[in-house]
Amino acid sequence: MGFEVSCRSLFVNTPNLAQPDQFQSAKKTEVWIEFLEKNKFDTSSIEKIDMSSDCPVIYDKAGNKFSIDFNKDKQNYAKKKISIKKELISRALGAGKYGLRILDLTAGLCIDAVFLAQLGYSVVSLERNPLIYLALTAALEKKPDLDLKIIFNDAYHYLKEQPIHSDVIYFDPMFPEKNKSALPRQEMVFFRNLVGADEDALNVLKEALLIRSVKRVVVKRSIKAPILLKPQSEVKGKLVRFDLYAGAYV
Ligand SMILES: C[S@@+](CC[C@H](N)C(=O)[O-])C[C@H]1O[C@@H](n2cnc3c(N)ncnc32)[C@H](O)[C@@H]1O
Repeated sequence: MGFEVSCRSLFVNTPNLAQPDQFQSAKKTEVWIEFLEKNKFDTSSIEKIDMSSDCPVIYDKAGNKFSIDFNKDKQNYAKKKISIKKELISRALGAGKYGLRILDLTAGLCIDAVFLAQLGYSVVSLERNPLIYLALTAALEKKPDLDLKIIFNDAYHYLKEQPIHSDVIYFDPMFPEKNKSALPRQEMVFFRNLVGADEDALNVLKEALLIRSVKRVVVKRSIKAPILLKPQSEVKGKLVRFDLYAGAYV
């Protein structure tokens, strides 16, 4: 882990605590820096974090930049919605048949979570990478009307320790191979470097399948990716596949 660089020194264009008009955002930035210093993550690939806009922009040492903005990034967050009954991802979740409360174990950029919330689901998303979590929190602050809650936690521990009130669990670990992605290539490279491969995915899935109240567990895979565990059924698209498991409830 490369946490030798102080997190504070990565932040640039931070608001000034001494300026009355910048006081609130400066205080928020302070809270963020403290959060990142407490929850250590690998900073070795990061060049700087630019705080000059509401959503932080993160630059890596290879010149890739990365940010999350639910309002401005229309390509990822303003998809054309057909209906809860017809969308592939929604059909995989049961199209409301099992209930609308979704626990998304892998927030990532929340592209799926935002889409599901826009379709009418009530979504709780977990993210374990502190920097991604903060970028998501900033994006959500600018779009508070979404029925989406983002929690900083590791899914494995959360499933073991917290009471689960969701109807369906959704799980989208990093694909094991290169795949077409909604993100431009440089952003995908950045994202992969930052979060790494989700090698604990099988253990997380096994834990999810033990939750007694959950009616279905859905795992998103690229179409050619190997299964994590043998599913009961699947819903297939052109590029992705959803492996479906009956929850412990059924
Ligand atoms: C492939 S991305 C998810 C993409 C997401 N479905 C979207 O629509 O943007 C995987 C994300 O889940 C996070 N993640 C992976 N395993 C996790 C776990 N066990 N607990 C919490 N977050 C996890 C990673 O840090 C990464 O940000």
